[in-house]
Amino acid sequence: MRQTQNERLTRTDPGTPMGDLFRRYWLPALTLAELPDADPVRVPLLGEKLIAIRDSSGRAAILQEACPHRQASLYFGLCDDGGIRCPYHGWKFDTDGNCLDIPGEPDGSTFHEQIRITAYPTVQRGGVIWVYMGPPDQQPEPPAFEWATLPVENLFVTRRIQDCNYLQTMEGGLDSSHLSWLHGGTILTDTVLGIGGSGTDSRVLDIIATDRKPVYETLNTAGGLLLGARRNADETNYYWRITQFIAPCFNIIAPTGDLTLNAQAWVPLDDQRCWSWAVNYYVDKPLSAAERDAMRKGGGLHVEFVPGTHQGVANHDNDYLLDRPAQRRGESFTGIPSFTMQDAAVQESQGVIADRTLEQLVSSDNGIIVTRMLLQQAIEDNRSGKPIPGIDPKSQRPRAGSIIAPEQSLESLDKSVLEPLSD
Ligand code: FES
Ligand SMILES: [Fe+2]
Repeated sequence: MRQTQNERLTRTDPGTPMGDLFRRYWLPALTLAELPDADPVRVPLLGEKLIAIRDSSGRAAILQEACPHRQASLYFGLCDDGGIRCPYHGWKFDTDGNCLDIPGEPDGSTFHEQIRITAYPTVQRGGVIWVYMGPPDQQPEPPAFEWATLPVENLFVTRRIQDCNYLQTMEGGLDSSHLSWLHGGTILTDTVLGIGGSGTDSRVLDIIATDRKPVYETLNTAGGLLLGARRNADETNYYWRITQFIAPCFNIIAPTGDLTLNAQAWVPLDDQRCWSWAVNYYVDKPLSAAERDAMRKGGGLHVEFVPGTHQGVANHDNDYLLDRPAQRRGESFTGIPSFTMQDAAVQESQGVIADRTLEQLVSSDNGIIVTRMLLQQAIEDNRSGKPIPGIDPKSQRPRAGSIIAPEQSLESLDKSVLEPLSD
């Protein structure tokens, strides 16, 4: 890849081509649990410093963090009746961004009427507060991912800061070929995500253990891509694991056996960091207390957090709790205990923004290559006013799945298992 292409795909500040593309979609900003009351929460996104608050009616608002008076942070301000007051000189703003009061101005002054701060629209769905940061006249329908329409009892949702660019983080999620290497060992024992879970059928375990050279196929969809990894199930059947990629940054991973479905999203915080979202969910039943507990402790796609932060207990400052003796004993391929931090370790090790001019891509990188092409095309289509994938709510609904079926291509496969149950 040329450096100019790498720059184009990885930079998302205001005014950049990829930043403009991201701003066409509803993006997850923070979990509902993080905003129980009016107290401000920082939610930096796409290179913009933002805060989330609730007004007195309980409506969530996402506002620019810097006070327009002299740029002090409104994060330190106090929410009171109908808005937030800056801690420095008391200017007050409502949740639509209007300035209501400038206490230091002479009585009768109307100067506050000329002052506004940025306020972005929000919606609450699937245990998440979503934000739309794009042109008001292009605001899409609310997010319709299947998980975003479920009761919160069916979901476990977290966001974590990863200290590298969103694109290489997302590429890790689309790269099925690393599963039996990077996650070797852990995939056998993780009870939330892996084949160590109680609901896993032993045939699948045998297939994954026997065929370690899966073949990858991709197909374009209305929302983005189907990424299919197929293994030989027996002499006449394939075992397919099919991941959905929905533009610009959403992923749905096939469940293993009867375990939860898994969704991910990678939203740039700035060009050097991203929010890595993880969702485990059942479509038709609540998660059990034991499953929630396992996720809170870092099971599945989640991590155990340093309390009060979005940083994992295992992180780059402690080599992700790498255990060399465990690695040598073969307990896991990396010796890093958590599934997600195994990903974080290799992704952050690629550099803050991976230098894709140095890559040597091979056939198993096909999913990543096709995703890059799709994003580059979406950037161009957005700039020329053409339709872009993943905006239409219908295109966000399909799910991921695994299928055992007679040998055939991904295209000709009966994919009814990917249809959402509730449609
Ligand atoms: S900097 Fe906010 S009121 Fe002065
Ligand atoms: Fe991974």
